[in-house]
Amino acid sequence: MSNVLNDSSVNDSSVNDSSVNGNIIFIGFMGSGKTTLGRKIAKHFGRLFLDTDLLIESRENMEILDIFKQHGEKYFRNLEREISELIQNSIRNSIIAVGGGFPTAVSSLQKLGFVIYLDIDFDFMISEVKKHPAELEKRPLLENLDEAKKIYDFRKKIYKSQADKIFTINHNNYETVVDEVINFLKNIKEFE
Ligand code: S3P
Repeated sequence: MSNVLNDSSVNDSSVNDSSVNGNIIFIGFMGSGKTTLGRKIAKHFGRLFLDTDLLIESRENMEILDIFKQHGEKYFRNLEREISELIQNSIRNSIIAVGGGFPTAVSSLQKLGFVIYLDIDFDFMISEVKKHPAELEKRPLLENLDEAKKIYDFRKKIYKSQADKIFTINHNNYETVVDEVINFLKNIKEFE
């Protein structure tokens, strides 16, 4: 681990397989900007960008919403575990955004890469997602906002426990967080 990782928001995990595969994994709640930010980061560094939701949709030839409706959440979580195996075995030097529930289905994310948690304030996330109704509609777990808040509170500790590094996102730094992540990545050996 490089010195830049020695801050309070970084896990003190001495065993981290991510240094061998060069992947960066973005985790966080729905609407935290994993895909948008991941694409920008990948473009900046000339890396491949992958999104586990899109990989699952391609594999099943079905949209996430329909997978949930026709097969249920358990089936979807199994698909996430399959995709996790695939990433671990075959994907290197890539930027990967994973679905919001992925860290609950896959317990050892650090085997897939260096894990960055985008920690977004719930109310700010809802206000942003509401600006894009299509984004809201395609996420079955955001249909009921009271339930979504409970899931959010429950998951927070899972995200934190899986993260190598945390970036907090709110209305104050929304525009600048991409630059912060780029500057951070330039300095870590896991991303060489
Ligand atoms: C989910 C998040 C979604 C998608 C599915 C379930 C979740 O991905 O995987 O709707 O359980 O939080 P995003 O986080 O990209 O919205």
